Amino acid sequence: MTFEEMRTQLMERILQQQLITATISQPRMKSNEVKRIKLKPLILKDAYHIQIEYQFERILKHDNVLLEDFPARLDTFFNDYRQAHVDFIDEKVQVQLSKKNKVLWKSDKSSAPKQVNLAHNRKKNYLLADDKPYPFLIRLGVQTEEGKIKQQKYDKFKQINRFIEFIDDALAYLPKDRQVRILDFGSGKSYLTFALYHYLKIEKGLDIHVTGLDLKKEVIEECSRIAEDLGYEQLEFLVGDINDYNDESAVDMVVTLHACDVATDMALARAVKWGASVILSVPCCQHELNRQLNTPALDIMLQHGLVRERFAALATDAIRAEILSLVGYEAQLLEFIDMENTPKNILIRAYHTGKKPSSDQRAHYDAFLKLLNAKPFLANELQAYL
Ligand SMILES: C[S@@+](CC[C@H](N)C(=O)[O-])C[C@H]1O[C@@H](n2cnc3c(N)ncnc32)[C@H](O)[C@@H]1O
Repeated sequence: MTFEEMRTQLMERILQQQLITATISQPRMKSNEVKRIKLKPLILKDAYHIQIEYQFERILKHDNVLLEDFPARLDTFFNDYRQAHVDFIDEKVQVQLSKKNKVLWKSDKSSAPKQVNLAHNRKKNYLLADDKPYPFLIRLGVQTEEGKIKQQKYDKFKQINRFIEFIDDALAYLPKDRQVRILDFGSGKSYLTFALYHYLKIEKGLDIHVTGLDLKKEVIEECSRIAEDLGYEQLEFLVGDINDYNDESAVDMVVTLHACDVATDMALARAVKWGASVILSVPCCQHELNRQLNTPALDIMLQHGLVRERFAALATDAIRAEILSLVGYEAQLLEFIDMENTPKNILIRAYHTGKKPSSDQRAHYDAFLKLLNAKPFLANELQAYL
Protein backbone atom coordinates (compact mmCIF):
# COMPACT_ATOMS: atom_id res chain seq x y z
CA MET A 1 0.00 0.00 0.00
CA THR A 2 1.32 3.45 -0.85
CA PHE A 3 1.26 6.41 1.51
CA GLU A 4 -1.47 8.06 -0.57
CA GLU A 5 -3.65 4.89 -0.53
CA MET A 6 -3.24 4.64 3.22
CA ARG A 7 -4.22 8.28 3.67
CA THR A 8 -7.29 7.92 1.41
CA GLN A 9 -8.49 4.75 3.15
CA LEU A 10 -8.24 6.25 6.63
CA MET A 11 -9.70 9.57 5.60
CA GLU A 12 -12.70 8.03 3.79
CA ARG A 13 -13.65 5.91 6.76
CA ILE A 14 -13.28 8.82 9.18
CA LEU A 15 -15.42 11.01 6.91
CA GLN A 16 -18.01 8.20 6.79
CA GLN A 17 -18.16 8.54 10.60
CA GLN A 18 -16.85 5.03 11.26
CA LEU A 19 -14.17 6.04 13.75
CA ILE A 20 -14.37 4.78 17.33
CA THR A 21 -10.93 5.92 18.59
CA ALA A 22 -7.41 6.39 17.26
CA THR A 23 -3.99 6.85 18.83
CA ILE A 24 -1.20 8.47 16.87
CA SER A 25 2.30 8.12 18.28
CA GLN A 26 6.04 7.90 17.60
CA PRO A 27 6.95 11.52 16.85
CA ARG A 28 9.43 11.81 14.00
CA MET A 29 11.36 14.47 15.93
CA LYS A 30 12.45 13.79 19.50
CA SER A 31 11.98 17.48 20.24
CA ASN A 32 8.23 17.22 19.51
CA GLU A 33 6.58 18.09 22.81
CA VAL A 34 3.35 16.30 21.94
CA LYS A 35 4.20 12.67 22.53
CA ARG A 36 0.88 11.14 21.52
CA ILE A 37 -2.43 12.20 20.01
CA LYS A 38 -5.78 10.57 20.66
CA LEU A 39 -8.86 11.01 18.49
CA LYS A 40 -12.50 10.29 19.13
CA PRO A 41 -15.76 11.44 17.56
CA LEU A 42 -18.09 13.68 19.50
CA ILE A 43 -21.27 15.66 18.91
CA LEU A 44 -21.05 19.32 19.84
CA LYS A 45 -23.94 21.70 19.22
CA ASP A 46 -25.50 19.00 17.02
CA ALA A 47 -22.47 18.81 14.72
CA TYR A 48 -20.13 15.84 14.32
CA HIS A 49 -16.64 16.75 15.52
CA ILE A 50 -13.40 14.90 16.07
CA GLN A 51 -11.92 15.54 19.49
CA ILE A 52 -8.12 15.73 19.35
CA GLU A 53 -6.34 15.10 22.63
CA TYR A 54 -2.70 16.24 22.62
CA GLN A 55 -0.63 14.41 25.23
CA PHE A 56 2.35 16.45 26.37
CA GLU A 57 4.81 15.14 28.94
CA ARG A 58 2.74 16.47 31.82
CA ILE A 59 -0.42 17.96 30.45
CA LEU A 60 -3.29 17.12 28.13
CA LYS A 61 -4.89 19.60 25.74
CA HIS A 62 -8.07 19.16 23.77
CA ASP A 63 -9.26 20.59 20.52
CA ASN A 64 -12.62 19.83 18.90
CA VAL A 65 -12.55 20.03 15.11
CA LEU A 66 -15.50 19.90 12.72
CA LEU A 67 -15.39 16.76 10.58
CA GLU A 68 -14.95 18.71 7.34
CA ASP A 69 -11.90 20.47 8.79
CA PHE A 70 -10.31 17.28 10.02
CA PRO A 71 -8.50 16.03 6.84
CA ALA A 72 -5.99 18.89 6.99
CA ARG A 73 -5.22 18.00 10.60
CA LEU A 74 -4.71 14.33 9.80
CA ASP A 75 -2.18 15.30 7.12
CA THR A 76 -0.12 17.26 9.61
CA PHE A 77 -0.20 14.30 12.01
CA PHE A 78 1.32 12.03 9.36
CA ASN A 79 4.03 14.62 8.72
CA ASP A 80 4.94 14.53 12.38
CA TYR A 81 4.25 10.94 13.55
CA ARG A 82 4.97 7.43 12.32
CA GLN A 83 2.45 5.19 14.03
CA ALA A 84 -1.31 4.99 14.25
CA HIS A 85 -3.72 2.54 15.88
CA VAL A 86 -7.19 3.15 14.57
CA ASP A 87 -10.34 1.48 15.85
CA PHE A 88 -13.15 1.58 13.29
CA ILE A 89 -16.58 0.11 13.92
CA ASP A 90 -15.67 -3.20 12.23
CA GLU A 91 -11.89 -3.21 11.91
CA LYS A 92 -8.74 -2.43 13.89
CA VAL A 93 -5.99 -0.92 11.77
CA GLN A 94 -2.36 -0.49 12.67
CA VAL A 95 -0.22 1.74 10.48
CA GLN A 96 3.55 2.00 10.74
CA LEU A 97 5.43 4.46 8.52
CA SER A 98 9.13 4.27 7.76
CA LYS A 99 11.26 7.41 7.73
CA LYS A 100 10.61 7.59 4.00
CA ASN A 101 6.89 6.93 4.40
CA LYS A 102 6.85 3.29 3.34
CA VAL A 103 3.62 1.91 4.77
CA LEU A 104 3.17 -1.18 6.90
CA TRP A 105 -0.58 -1.76 7.21
CA LYS A 106 -2.08 -4.41 9.52
CA SER A 107 -5.78 -5.02 9.72
CA ASP A 108 -7.84 -7.11 12.11
CA LYS A 109 -11.51 -7.73 11.40
CA SER A 110 -11.97 -10.57 13.86
CA SER A 111 -13.92 -8.69 16.54
CA ALA A 112 -17.65 -8.11 16.39
CA PRO A 113 -18.67 -4.75 14.88
CA LYS A 114 -18.98 -1.94 17.42
CA GLN A 115 -21.39 0.97 17.55
CA VAL A 116 -20.12 4.54 17.49
CA ASN A 117 -21.73 5.65 20.69
CA LEU A 118 -22.40 9.28 19.89
CA ALA A 119 -25.52 9.34 22.00
CA HIS A 120 -23.27 8.69 24.97
CA ASN A 121 -21.09 11.59 23.96
CA ARG A 122 -24.05 13.81 23.36
CA LYS A 123 -25.25 13.41 26.91
CA LYS A 124 -22.37 13.45 29.34
CA ASN A 125 -22.52 10.90 32.13
CA TYR A 126 -21.97 13.26 35.03
CA LEU A 127 -21.16 11.96 38.51
CA LEU A 128 -24.06 14.14 39.61
CA ALA A 129 -26.94 13.44 37.24
CA ASP A 130 -28.48 16.44 35.49
CA ASP A 131 -32.03 15.10 35.68
CA LYS A 132 -32.30 13.98 39.29
CA PRO A 133 -33.21 16.30 42.17
CA TYR A 134 -30.50 16.77 44.81
CA PRO A 135 -31.60 18.61 47.97
CA PHE A 136 -28.39 20.67 48.16
CA LEU A 137 -28.60 21.77 44.52
CA ILE A 138 -32.23 22.80 44.98
CA ARG A 139 -31.32 24.81 48.11
CA LEU A 140 -28.39 26.45 46.33
CA GLY A 141 -30.66 27.48 43.46
CA VAL A 142 -28.87 25.36 40.86
CA GLN A 143 -31.84 23.00 40.33
CA THR A 144 -35.58 23.49 40.29
CA GLU A 145 -37.69 21.43 42.74
CA GLU A 146 -38.18 18.90 39.91
CA GLY A 147 -34.43 18.46 39.51
CA LYS A 148 -33.98 20.49 36.34
CA ILE A 149 -30.72 22.44 36.17
CA LYS A 150 -31.49 26.15 35.78
CA GLN A 151 -30.11 27.40 32.51
CA GLN A 152 -28.00 30.19 34.03
CA LYS A 153 -26.45 27.69 36.46
CA TYR A 154 -25.51 25.04 33.90
CA ASP A 155 -21.87 26.23 33.61
CA LYS A 156 -21.46 26.03 37.38
CA PHE A 157 -23.09 22.58 37.39
CA LYS A 158 -20.60 21.38 34.77
CA GLN A 159 -17.69 22.86 36.72
CA ILE A 160 -18.59 21.15 39.98
CA ASN A 161 -19.19 17.85 38.19
CA ARG A 162 -15.82 18.07 36.50
CA PHE A 163 -14.16 18.97 39.79
CA ILE A 164 -15.75 15.95 41.44
CA GLU A 165 -14.33 13.75 38.68
CA PHE A 166 -10.84 14.94 39.69
CA ILE A 167 -11.67 14.31 43.36
CA ASP A 168 -12.87 10.82 42.46
CA ASP A 169 -9.57 10.13 40.69
CA ALA A 170 -7.64 11.32 43.75
CA LEU A 171 -9.36 9.01 46.27
CA ALA A 172 -6.56 6.44 46.07
CA TYR A 173 -4.18 9.04 47.54
CA LEU A 174 -6.28 9.69 50.64
CA PRO A 175 -6.08 7.76 53.95
CA LYS A 176 -8.55 4.90 54.36
CA ASP A 177 -8.06 4.06 58.04
CA ARG A 178 -9.34 7.31 59.59
CA GLN A 179 -11.49 10.34 58.94
CA VAL A 180 -10.33 12.36 55.93
CA ARG A 181 -10.06 16.13 56.47
CA ILE A 182 -10.93 18.28 53.49
CA LEU A 183 -10.68 22.06 53.15
CA ASP A 184 -12.27 24.21 50.47
CA PHE A 185 -10.54 27.59 50.58
CA GLY A 186 -12.45 30.61 49.21
CA SER A 187 -15.59 28.46 49.12
CA GLY A 188 -17.93 31.42 48.39
CA LYS A 189 -21.46 30.18 47.74
CA SER A 190 -20.00 26.68 48.22
CA TYR A 191 -21.52 24.81 45.29
CA LEU A 192 -18.37 22.71 45.15
CA THR A 193 -18.15 22.24 48.93
CA PHE A 194 -21.70 20.88 49.11
CA ALA A 195 -21.23 18.78 46.00
CA LEU A 196 -18.07 17.11 47.22
CA TYR A 197 -19.67 16.46 50.60
CA HIS A 198 -22.71 14.94 48.93
CA TYR A 199 -20.63 12.79 46.60
CA LEU A 200 -18.05 11.54 49.12
CA LYS A 201 -20.19 11.27 52.25
CA ILE A 202 -23.68 10.52 51.02
CA GLU A 203 -23.08 8.65 47.77
CA LYS A 204 -19.76 6.94 48.61
CA GLY A 205 -20.25 6.68 52.40
CA LEU A 206 -16.70 7.86 53.18
CA ASP A 207 -15.69 9.09 56.63
CA ILE A 208 -14.91 12.74 55.92
CA HIS A 209 -14.99 16.14 57.55
CA VAL A 210 -15.25 19.13 55.24
CA THR A 211 -14.62 22.79 55.98
CA GLY A 212 -15.47 25.67 53.66
CA LEU A 213 -13.68 28.93 54.48
CA ASP A 214 -14.43 32.35 53.04
CA LEU A 215 -14.13 36.02 53.90
CA LYS A 216 -17.80 36.73 53.28
CA LYS A 217 -19.74 36.53 56.53
CA GLU A 218 -23.31 36.57 55.14
CA VAL A 219 -22.56 33.97 52.49
CA ILE A 220 -20.94 31.68 55.03
CA GLU A 221 -23.87 32.09 57.43
CA GLU A 222 -26.29 31.08 54.68
CA CYS A 223 -24.15 28.03 53.81
CA SER A 224 -24.05 27.01 57.48
CA ARG A 225 -27.86 27.23 57.63
CA ILE A 226 -28.25 25.05 54.55
CA ALA A 227 -25.77 22.46 55.89
CA GLU A 228 -27.68 22.34 59.17
CA ASP A 229 -31.07 22.06 57.46
CA LEU A 230 -29.79 19.20 55.32
CA GLY A 231 -28.32 17.42 58.34
CA TYR A 232 -24.79 17.53 56.90
CA GLU A 233 -23.09 17.05 60.26
CA GLN A 234 -19.54 16.77 59.02
CA LEU A 235 -19.72 19.89 56.88
CA GLU A 236 -18.83 23.20 58.52
CA PHE A 237 -18.43 26.73 57.19
CA LEU A 238 -16.12 29.30 58.73
CA VAL A 239 -15.61 33.00 58.13
CA GLY A 240 -11.92 33.80 57.83
CA ASP A 241 -8.90 34.69 55.76
CA ILE A 242 -6.95 31.79 54.27
CA ASN A 243 -3.72 33.45 55.33
CA ASP A 244 -4.68 33.51 58.99
CA TYR A 245 -6.26 30.09 59.09
CA ASN A 246 -4.39 28.01 61.62
CA ASP A 247 -7.17 25.94 63.12
CA GLU A 248 -5.97 22.63 61.74
CA SER A 249 -2.89 20.60 62.47
CA ALA A 250 -3.32 18.36 59.45
CA VAL A 251 -5.50 18.36 56.37
CA ASP A 252 -5.59 15.57 53.79
CA MET A 253 -7.05 17.36 50.80
CA VAL A 254 -7.15 21.06 49.93
CA VAL A 255 -9.38 22.26 47.09
CA THR A 256 -9.93 25.71 45.63
CA LEU A 257 -12.20 26.78 42.80
CA HIS A 258 -11.54 30.26 41.44
CA ALA A 259 -10.03 31.65 44.64
CA CYS A 260 -9.00 35.16 43.57
CA ASP A 261 -5.41 36.00 42.61
CA VAL A 262 -2.96 35.13 45.42
CA ALA A 263 -5.73 33.53 47.53
CA THR A 264 -4.91 30.44 45.44
CA ASP A 265 -1.25 30.74 46.48
CA MET A 266 -2.18 31.15 50.12
CA ALA A 267 -4.21 27.95 49.86
CA LEU A 268 -1.39 26.05 48.12
CA ALA A 269 1.09 27.24 50.76
CA ARG A 270 -1.24 26.13 53.59
CA ALA A 271 -1.69 22.75 51.93
CA VAL A 272 2.07 22.21 51.63
CA LYS A 273 2.66 23.24 55.24
CA TRP A 274 0.09 20.65 56.34
CA GLY A 275 1.62 18.05 54.05
CA ALA A 276 -1.80 17.53 52.42
CA SER A 277 -1.83 14.35 50.33
CA VAL A 278 -3.96 15.88 47.58
CA ILE A 279 -4.23 19.43 46.26
CA LEU A 280 -6.75 20.31 43.55
CA SER A 281 -6.85 23.95 42.62
CA VAL A 282 -8.47 25.87 39.77
CA PRO A 283 -6.97 29.36 39.94
CA CYS A 284 -8.78 32.55 39.07
CA CYS A 285 -7.59 35.96 37.91
CA GLN A 286 -3.84 36.53 38.34
CA HIS A 287 -2.38 40.01 38.79
CA GLU A 288 0.65 39.51 40.97
CA LEU A 289 3.19 38.34 38.39
CA ASN A 290 1.80 40.71 35.76
CA ARG A 291 2.86 43.63 37.97
CA GLN A 292 6.34 42.21 38.55
CA LEU A 293 7.30 41.10 35.02
CA ASN A 294 10.37 42.95 33.85
CA THR A 295 12.07 41.01 31.08
CA PRO A 296 13.35 43.03 28.12
CA ALA A 297 14.01 39.78 26.23
CA LEU A 298 10.23 39.15 26.24
CA ASP A 299 9.16 42.69 25.42
CA ILE A 300 7.91 41.72 21.97
CA MET A 301 5.25 39.72 23.81
CA LEU A 302 4.86 41.76 26.95
CA GLN A 303 4.28 45.09 25.19
CA HIS A 304 0.77 43.83 24.30
CA GLY A 305 -1.47 44.07 27.36
CA LEU A 306 -3.54 41.05 26.38
CA VAL A 307 -0.53 38.83 25.75
CA ARG A 308 1.15 40.10 28.91
CA GLU A 309 -1.93 39.19 30.95
CA ARG A 310 -2.17 35.69 29.47
CA PHE A 311 1.56 35.10 29.71
CA ALA A 312 1.54 36.19 33.38
CA ALA A 313 -1.37 33.84 34.12
CA LEU A 314 0.26 30.86 32.39
CA ALA A 315 3.69 31.55 33.90
CA THR A 316 2.07 31.84 37.35
CA ASP A 317 0.44 28.44 37.03
CA ALA A 318 3.59 26.84 35.63
CA ILE A 319 5.60 28.29 38.55
CA ARG A 320 2.98 27.05 41.02
CA ALA A 321 3.21 23.53 39.60
CA GLU A 322 7.00 23.67 39.62
CA ILE A 323 7.16 24.85 43.25
CA LEU A 324 4.82 22.03 44.26
CA SER A 325 7.01 19.56 42.47
CA LEU A 326 10.13 21.02 44.17
CA VAL A 327 8.55 20.50 47.60
CA GLY A 328 7.66 16.84 47.14
CA TYR A 329 4.50 16.72 45.02
CA GLU A 330 3.79 15.11 41.69
CA ALA A 331 2.20 18.17 40.11
CA GLN A 332 0.37 18.53 36.81
CA LEU A 333 -1.51 21.27 35.02
CA LEU A 334 -4.65 19.78 33.48
CA GLU A 335 -7.47 21.12 31.37
CA PHE A 336 -10.29 21.68 33.84
CA ILE A 337 -13.15 22.31 31.47
CA ASP A 338 -13.71 23.46 27.90
CA MET A 339 -13.02 27.13 27.11
CA GLU A 340 -16.67 27.67 26.15
CA ASN A 341 -17.59 27.11 29.79
CA THR A 342 -14.96 29.34 31.40
CA PRO A 343 -11.56 30.63 30.26
CA LYS A 344 -10.30 29.86 33.78
CA ASN A 345 -9.73 26.33 32.69
CA ILE A 346 -6.46 25.10 34.19
CA LEU A 347 -6.53 22.78 37.16
CA ILE A 348 -3.43 22.27 39.29
CA ARG A 349 -3.36 18.71 40.56
CA ALA A 350 -0.71 17.72 43.07
CA TYR A 351 -0.28 14.41 44.86
CA HIS A 352 2.20 14.22 47.71
CA THR A 353 5.04 11.77 46.99
CA GLY A 354 7.88 13.21 49.05
CA LYS A 355 10.16 12.87 46.03
CA LYS A 356 13.20 15.15 46.14
CA PRO A 357 13.85 17.29 43.07
CA SER A 358 17.01 16.90 41.02
CA SER A 359 19.58 19.70 41.08
CA ASP A 360 18.78 20.34 37.39
CA GLN A 361 15.11 20.90 38.19
CA ARG A 362 16.00 23.42 40.87
CA ALA A 363 18.44 25.19 38.54
CA HIS A 364 15.77 25.46 35.80
CA TYR A 365 13.33 26.95 38.27
CA ASP A 366 15.87 29.51 39.52
CA ALA A 367 16.77 30.46 35.93
CA PHE A 368 13.10 30.95 35.00
CA LEU A 369 12.43 33.27 37.93
CA LYS A 370 15.61 35.17 37.13
CA LEU A 371 14.49 35.56 33.52
CA LEU A 372 11.14 36.99 34.65
CA ASN A 373 12.75 39.07 37.37
CA ALA A 374 9.95 37.86 39.59
CA LYS A 375 9.43 36.80 43.16
CA PRO A 376 6.03 35.09 43.22
CA PHE A 377 3.90 35.00 46.35
CA LEU A 378 4.09 31.21 46.63
CA ALA A 379 7.89 31.22 46.40
CA ASN A 380 8.04 33.68 49.30
CA GLU A 381 5.51 31.70 51.32
CA LEU A 382 7.36 28.43 50.86
CA GLN A 383 10.92 29.77 51.01
CA ALA A 384 11.76 27.52 53.95
CA TYR A 385 10.60 24.42 52.03
CA LEU A 386 12.40 25.18 48.77
C1 LIG B 1 -14.71 33.78 42.59
S1 LIG B 1 -15.21 33.31 44.15
C2 LIG B 1 -15.29 31.55 44.01
C3 LIG B 1 -16.19 30.94 45.01
C4 LIG B 1 -16.37 29.43 44.91
N1 LIG B 1 -15.17 28.69 45.16
C5 LIG B 1 -16.98 29.04 43.57
O1 LIG B 1 -16.26 28.55 42.72
O2 LIG B 1 -18.17 29.24 43.39
C6 LIG B 1 -13.75 33.56 45.12
C7 LIG B 1 -13.99 33.52 46.62
O3 LIG B 1 -12.73 33.57 47.28
C8 LIG B 1 -12.91 34.29 48.49
N2 LIG B 1 -11.59 34.78 48.96
C9 LIG B 1 -10.74 35.60 48.30
N3 LIG B 1 -9.64 35.83 49.06
C10 LIG B 1 -9.80 35.13 50.20
C11 LIG B 1 -9.02 34.96 51.38
N4 LIG B 1 -7.84 35.55 51.52
N5 LIG B 1 -9.50 34.17 52.36
C12 LIG B 1 -10.71 33.55 52.23
N6 LIG B 1 -11.49 33.68 51.15
C13 LIG B 1 -11.05 34.45 50.14
C14 LIG B 1 -13.87 35.41 48.08
O4 LIG B 1 -14.55 35.96 49.19
C15 LIG B 1 -14.82 34.69 47.12
O5 LIG B 1 -15.96 34.20 47.76
